[in-house]
Amino acid sequence: MRGDMVIGLVHNRPVDAEDTNHQSSKDVIVQVEAIEKALDTLGQRSVRLPFSRDLGDVLRALETSRVEAVFNLCESVDDNPHLIAHPAAVFELLDIPFTGSSAATLLTTTDKYLVKRLLQAGGIITPAFFLYSGQKQFDVSGLRFPLIVKPQFQDASIGIDQESVVVDGARLPDVLEEMYDLYGPLLVEEYIEGREFNISLFGSPEAEVMPVAEIDFTGYPDELFRIVGYRAKWDAGSVEYSCSNRMFPNLSEDLLGQLVPTARRCYALFGLRDYGRVDFRMGPDNAAYVLEINANPCLSPDSGFVAAVGRSGLDYTGMVGRFQDFLSRRYR
Ligand SMILES: Nc1ncnc2c1ncn2[C@@H]1O[C@H](COP(=O)(O)OP(=O)(O)O)[C@@H](O)[C@H]1O
Ligand SMILES: [Mg+2]
Repeated sequence: MRGDMVIGLVHNRPVDAEDTNHQSSKDVIVQVEAIEKALDTLGQRSVRLPFSRDLGDVLRALETSRVEAVFNLCESVDDNPHLIAHPAAVFELLDIPFTGSSAATLLTTTDKYLVKRLLQAGGIITPAFFLYSGQKQFDVSGLRFPLIVKPQFQDASIGIDQESVVVDGARLPDVLEEMYDLYGPLLVEEYIEGREFNISLFGSPEAEVMPVAEIDFTGYPDELFRIVGYRAKWDAGSVEYSCSNRMFPNLSEDLLGQLVPTARRCYALFGLRDYGRVDFRMGPDNAAYVLEINANPCLSPDSGFVAAVGRSGLDYTGMVGRFQDFLSRRYR
């Protein structure tokens, strides 16, 4: 059965080269190319299929190419992060098996504020926060500075850099106003100074925890906040980029005992499927704070998820083969 079906590599169209977020946006094509190559090596037929709001085109392309299962690589539709879940919803409507999380999970996890509310309700430790939606009056007396300001609906560190960390109340209103104009509603949360860890989970129906990665901030200039902001992720020439490398350290049982069960709980709480990544920071109080839940994390060969899978002993083609297995099982 494996290899018989036609897999559609469905992806969003990257934004134009002159757009500010071109770097992060074009990364989806890197993923498509790498997965296509791996599927080819596996003897698996596949076809590329860009997804846009022109649903008629999408449906025709699915039909013409006789797509029977979908590798869902959509991170948005026409660069609108509010539409991240909609391609998955279309596959659900058409009853086409697809990789990764359901539309409901993608929709929930892309809303940073909703994620915080659910983490809180689930009793999972996460930095204290509030939502800024343009209101004139807001009360930050319950929060400890510095604070970090992030767009409610963005990913890939879009809108996050040094200017996002605010050390005192005086600058806060200006930062909020400026960022609100650019990105709409903002999640404002306590900045956690401490080690940053990424925990990748992979497998279906049971997900296994991959080796735990830590961001190595060695050499990061003292005057800068140690964050994996947009420059650190995408600007290869920046100091932030070269001083935020991934490593796989040996961690104490104690630390793993804090991180791993919490990552598993998050995976279950948000209903992630096939793969996911949970990001943490260790606070000065030695508590493990959940920063973010990534359903369908990036699968480019240099991504954190792929590195963790590689560290577990599975190469890129082997990893893609596992996804192919997930689809085969759903297809039958
Ligand atoms: N509360 C926080 N305390 C310290 N650093 C943070 C906090 N929130 C985010 N960061 C830094 O910003 C990076 C990106 O934030 P994240 O919430 O993961 O957004 P994105 O979805 O854009 O990746 C994190 O990897 C981390 O380095
Ligand atoms: Mg992140």
